[in-house]
Amino acid sequence: VSENLVRDIHDAVACSENPAQASVRPPGTTTRELAAMRRDVLGKLHLYPNTSVLEIGCGVGLLGVPIARRAASYVGLDFAPRAVRVANERLQAAGVGDCARALCLDVLGSSAQELSKLGRFDRVLMYAVLHYARDEREAVLFLRRTLDLLAPSGRALIGNLPLEDLRGDWQADGHIPKGLPGRLLAAGRWVATPGSGPVPLTRGWKTRHALAAAIKRRGRSPAEPFAAARLPPGYTLTLTTADIERWLVMLGEPLIHTWELPAPSVPLAPARADLILQRP
Ligand SMILES: C[S@@+](CC[C@H](N)C(=O)[O-])C[C@H]1O[C@@H](n2cnc3c(N)ncnc32)[C@H](O)[C@@H]1O
Repeated sequence: VSENLVRDIHDAVACSENPAQASVRPPGTTTRELAAMRRDVLGKLHLYPNTSVLEIGCGVGLLGVPIARRAASYVGLDFAPRAVRVANERLQAAGVGDCARALCLDVLGSSAQELSKLGRFDRVLMYAVLHYARDEREAVLFLRRTLDLLAPSGRALIGNLPLEDLRGDWQADGHIPKGLPGRLLAAGRWVATPGSGPVPLTRGWKTRHALAAAIKRRGRSPAEPFAAARLPPGYTLTLTTADIERWLVMLGEPLIHTWELPAPSVPLAPARADLILQRP
């Protein structure tokens, strides 16, 4: 056991034959749900054959492999050495080893200077990772590292964020509405600019309100139970739309941020949302 429980957990399951288990998805996650997740992420990344992609917290490469097949290059970073080994094996086996690799690196423990050696990327993906920040300082650092690695005209996708302020809306809304929209819903678009001070709470409330309305329009299947984030003891930071928007302002540069909902069958989609960041 190392000093880092998150690393230990991801390393312990990395060699599992079951891709859901190897990537620490909830028990019972199906192949179809994993495929839905891949499609959703690929659709939101807007990849082209000349796009370079970096993934923070790549795990065993569940998203890395399909991304590498569509992009010009892919670099995955993860601090769990066994997960990185498995990711590299999977990239090699998929025949994309020439343009894709995973590196063992602690994104929070590395300096900006160290990371700058990797260059800047057209897309930065950080999927199902931000909730592993132990406190606000680490959460802001994850976001800062994302921007450090993003090319000026790039697009970052910080996905599958468990949002405390959306939970109630999922739990309250147990019916299947008519005309269930199958596609993801863009919930809103806000510009957070430095110098404007902390984002007023009302802005967070508007975000929450827009996302909640989108969730209500979509509804959920009663067969899909609410799954809370399963975090190791000691990881107590909760994420809310308002907090994340406040942290974006703390980054001190103009940013366009957009909230979207994951496609309906993405694992853990209930009460989760995706955040897309771009520079104006
Ligand atoms: C739930 S997994 C998601 C993996 C992958 N993005 C996916 O969706 O399949 C979260 C990953 O983030 C990694 N991670 C967490 N904190 C990290 C850090 N500080 N530096 C690098 N990797 C980190 C973990 O080791 C784990 O592999």
